[in-house]
Amino acid sequence: MIVAIDGPAGAGKSTIAHRVAEELDFQLIDTGAIYRTVAYRALEDGKDLDSPEEVATLAASLHLDFERNDDGENVLYCDGEPMGNEIRTPHVTRASSQISSIPAVRQALLGIQRELGKRESSVLEGRDIGTVVFPDAEAKIFLTASREVRAHRRLDQMKERGMDGDLDEVLAEIVDRDRRDMERDIAPLKKADDAVEIDTSELEIEDVVQRILEVVEEKK
Ligand code: DC
Repeated sequence: MIVAIDGPAGAGKSTIAHRVAEELDFQLIDTGAIYRTVAYRALEDGKDLDSPEEVATLAASLHLDFERNDDGENVLYCDGEPMGNEIRTPHVTRASSQISSIPAVRQALLGIQRELGKRESSVLEGRDIGTVVFPDAEAKIFLTASREVRAHRRLDQMKERGMDGDLDEVLAEIVDRDRRDMERDIAPLKKADDAVEIDTSELEIEDVVQRILEVVEEKK
């Protein structure tokens, strides 16, 4: 069974997808981490981010896999190296949004996402899971929240990771990333027609989790 959770940055996807996967005992696949890893490696290897060929060739050459650690969390390995906070910096965040609009990069990453999802019942979180990666997913959720709420959440998340952040900067980054993610020609961020939309601005995490579990239960 596939549970697709899509939505913009800061809508609560990571936390909620994590909890849903835990409740269902499904594997969790954070597809944003895959795009972030390609961006991180492109920057590390000195690739020209404006060159679709260079970045797509790199994306196709990487060996990406998720492995469960002792805490039951799926950690992304790139060429045998576990990916951690280095893929969460503002610089990599911006670069990941940039490289995710390259069609050949998306194509290179499509196979791996499908392969990983088919291994076992999965919760996949991303932007285009319900529309492109798994259009036949049994349960599709589209999470949203106001920009202000999302900016505050991002800031809290950065603080938890020991990073400094400024609210106005984070808000500007969110507006900019929304625009790029929604306006790109290929696989833009949008709700699938058959997805259940949940605005998380005023809701507690556990209420959203319960709502999603109800949707999953109906589709089982
Ligand atoms: O969810 P995130 O913030 O970790 O994602 C980082 C970037 O990756 C985001 O700006 C858009 C891109 N992305 C995508 O295009 N498609 C996905 N399925 C997941 C992420």
